Amino acid sequence: MRRLILCLLLCLTTFTQKALASVLAIDYGSEWIKASLMSPGVPFDVLLDRNSKRKIQSTVGWKKQDRLFGSDAFNLAGRFPSDSFSNLKYLQAAPFDSQTVSFYTSISTADVFQTSRGTVALRRSDGTEWSVEELIAMQLAYVRELAESTANEKVTDVILTIPPYYTQHERDAVVDAVEIAGMRTLSLVHDGTAVAVNYAMTRSFSEEPEYHVIYDAGASSIRATIAAFSSVPGNTKKDTATSIAIKGYGFDRNTGGVELDRRLREILIGDFNKKHKRDIREDKRGMAKLWKEAGKVKAILSANADATASVESLAWDIDFRSKVTRNQFENACKDLTLLYAKPIFDALSHAGLTLDNITSVILTGGASRTPMIQTAVKAAVGESKIALNVNADEAAVLGAALHGAGLSRQFKTKDIRVSDITPYDIQASYQAESKSETSKSRTINTLVFPSGSKYGGKKTLSLRRKDDFTLQLNYKGSPVPGYPADLLEVSLKGIPEALKNLTEAGAVDPIIKATLALSDSGFATVPEAVVFGEIKDDTITGKLKGLFGGSASSSSETDSESETAARPDTSATNSSAEEKEKPLAKDTIPLELEVKLSSSLPPMSVAEKRTARDRLRAIDFAEVAKRRHEEARNTLESYLYRVRDLLVEEGDTPFRKCSKEQERTTLGAKLEETFAWLSEHGEDAGTNELVEHRTALEKLEYPAVHRYKEIEAFPVALNNSQKWNWSARLFLTEARLALQDEASGGEPGKYTQDELDALEKTLREHEAWLDDAVERQKRVQMYDDPAVESAELYSRAKVLESQLHKLVKKKAPKKKKKEAESSSSSSSSGAGASSTPTKTGEGAGQSGGHRDEL
Ligand SMILES: *[C@@H]1O[C@H](CO)[C@@H](O)[C@H](O)[C@H]1NC(C)=O
Ligand SMILES: *[C@@H]1O[C@H](CO)[C@@H](O)[C@H](O)[C@H]1NC(C)=O
Ligand SMILES: *[C@@H]1O[C@H](CO)[C@@H](O)[C@H](O)[C@H]1NC(C)=O
Ligand SMILES: *[C@@H]1O[C@H](CO)[C@@H](O)[C@H](O)[C@H]1NC(C)=O
Ligand SMILES: *[C@@H]1O[C@H](CO)[C@@H](O)[C@H](O)[C@H]1NC(C)=O
Repeated sequence: MRRLILCLLLCLTTFTQKALASVLAIDYGSEWIKASLMSPGVPFDVLLDRNSKRKIQSTVGWKKQDRLFGSDAFNLAGRFPSDSFSNLKYLQAAPFDSQTVSFYTSISTADVFQTSRGTVALRRSDGTEWSVEELIAMQLAYVRELAESTANEKVTDVILTIPPYYTQHERDAVVDAVEIAGMRTLSLVHDGTAVAVNYAMTRSFSEEPEYHVIYDAGASSIRATIAAFSSVPGNTKKDTATSIAIKGYGFDRNTGGVELDRRLREILIGDFNKKHKRDIREDKRGMAKLWKEAGKVKAILSANADATASVESLAWDIDFRSKVTRNQFENACKDLTLLYAKPIFDALSHAGLTLDNITSVILTGGASRTPMIQTAVKAAVGESKIALNVNADEAAVLGAALHGAGLSRQFKTKDIRVSDITPYDIQASYQAESKSETSKSRTINTLVFPSGSKYGGKKTLSLRRKDDFTLQLNYKGSPVPGYPADLLEVSLKGIPEALKNLTEAGAVDPIIKATLALSDSGFATVPEAVVFGEIKDDTITGKLKGLFGGSASSSSETDSESETAARPDTSATNSSAEEKEKPLAKDTIPLELEVKLSSSLPPMSVAEKRTARDRLRAIDFAEVAKRRHEEARNTLESYLYRVRDLLVEEGDTPFRKCSKEQERTTLGAKLEETFAWLSEHGEDAGTNELVEHRTALEKLEYPAVHRYKEIEAFPVALNNSQKWNWSARLFLTEARLALQDEASGGEPGKYTQDELDALEKTLREHEAWLDDAVERQKRVQMYDDPAVESAELYSRAKVLESQLHKLVKKKAPKKKKKEAESSSSSSSSGAGASSTPTKTGEGAGQSGGHRDEL
């Protein structure tokens, strides 16, 4: 693992440019959120939350006005049972009257109600209402902020893991939450597939496919994925790529860690009710506290034969204690035993394989650690097939990040090609054209994407129709009991006119061709429909073309690999817009499409999403303003105490030494005034007012602070001035001597007399000014403002320094004899200095520094 991370890091830093955008992967589970960030320069790993935890509880909640996330929000449930929202994943696109929602209300103390779309929304204790999408969006936005503070840039592209069994409605709910959170869905990826990518990252495979089961036992469900790993030719002759082909799925949407928690809580409820002769179910707070306790007890029972539940003041001031044995717990779950391994066999039969074909069963997901689940799976597949070689908590999110990085094509990662499939049959339905006015029309269903069809594929449906009609896409049968099957409804418009035009142009027997697509994120759409009719070409060449089976296609249903990106196509866009992209042949006329999304469970409308986004933004703004206000208040407060300390401290403190009596009195008065103001108006004072009060005090404190700083700065600045004074003097002496030598030798001098005189003048002025400045400063008291500011010392020395610098840099004029002499004379000024015995050691040190600077 270490090596993988290292290699990735190298790849990232070697191949990335500055313009790269980060890719955020989120594994949004019923209980935990895990995230991972692919960002240039950021080590590839799981994203840490503010407490450096590797996973965040999937909860958002409110403590009065304050919004909280993660365990802070989860822990609120015991006190504010209607203001803490957990396990929201269950509710994504769940019909209000479904079994799913009644299960949710059995485990949650939140207040649910039905939206106009038929889905679920939640109501806080203060009456404000939030859709499931909005509450999940808040958590996604929270993760986005974590990612942004890690990447130090905006993060917008996100890839999310979802269970393979998610319906199109549920996928829409995920994508909508991402949109409300201000991000873009790069792709959705099935969690088992993401684990397969993670598994393949560090392994190599032969050309012969190797089959593995990814067994993922999570909080809400258990799913099994059959993945075929093999080596395939890469982009160049030398390269090979890894292929991951998903072959089958099996799942149980109801059995998972949460159901075990529920059963454990039932044991505790039973015990409480028996002991205390009251029904704890009547107390929301008590139920919420017991829910948390059940989770704890379950974890203890994973490693121990018994555990004690203990909740102080559970309800009605009763301290509750109860001992639970693992036996007791497992007995309460006995009916589930047969269900744990069933998804594996469902997936095998979906894939048309048997256990013999499977190399290993890779366990992942938090609940896969539960002893009774592991025991059941071992018994069903044989212990030798069990593999514990991926990180049960993090494999999915890390795999998703790698997959997302691959899709974004911005990062150089291992070449892994994933082909995924749909677990559901998807069919197209339409009314047959009625032969006569009276006859009843019948519905024709065509299975276009049978379960097991590849994502990213397209099909063409060819029909003979005379009039406009409507095409429906739906699941064949309900995908989940109580969930609707309809996906979308597409009206094809303008058929009669298109038929007439084509016929007039000489087309024979035109037909309607509708393209149906299954996107990489699992969305079924109808991207386009056309009327097509072969136009007879009566020229000789035309006839010849016809002879050789020319251009006209005759297949009625064709498969083709899609060239579309992995971005989910929510089919809400105008498909007719596509017609402009490619020039159409004469024999093809595009039809206008009107797309209507599922009427029994529609996703959020554009307007609803915009409103939701605005609501979330408003909260964000309010929270930022509040934080700034608190900060301003806190800084003012601590500043007040600091100034008070300065004023009351006895003795020769720097502050006392550097301030006048009068100044301290004024500051003290202002301080007391501000204290009084803060205690009276602090609560409702604006952020600006708080800042202004601090500024006013700082102005009064400033003179003393400044004097103190100057007292410290003056000697250092003086040193600097003397250094340049001294260096210039040294230089002049040497240069004048050299000039004399050169003049007597008849050579042209390196420096002219004028240049040296000019430097001398500047030096004298500087010296005179410096002498005077030092004298003036000597007379100044500590509590007086400085006579000369250190800044002025520096700027005056700078004048001397740059003039000196210019001369030292000057090139010697051309001369007939060796150059060495004059150049050595200039450099000897430094070298000579450091060895001049008349100078003290400190001078030598300075000269060294001076030479470096020049
Ligand atoms: C699965 O195993 C059976 C029996 O061992 C074998 O006949 C079959 O070819 C295998 N299938 C695949 C796809 O490897
Ligand atoms: C049919 O032909 C008419 C006349 O050329 C043209 O205005 C119209 O746009 C065409 N309709 C379609 C659907 O191509
Ligand atoms: C489709 O196009 C029409 C006309 O340009 C427009 O009014 C409508 O809002 C569009 N629908 C969608 C879903 O973009
Ligand atoms: C001035 O420079 C000398 C020699 O480098 C050093 O010993 C002395 O501490 C310096 N004084 C200040 C105030 O920096
Ligand atoms: C400047 O340098 C000269 C020669 O090194 C020295 O005599 C003089 O005191 C210095 N003046 C100041 C103000 O440091």
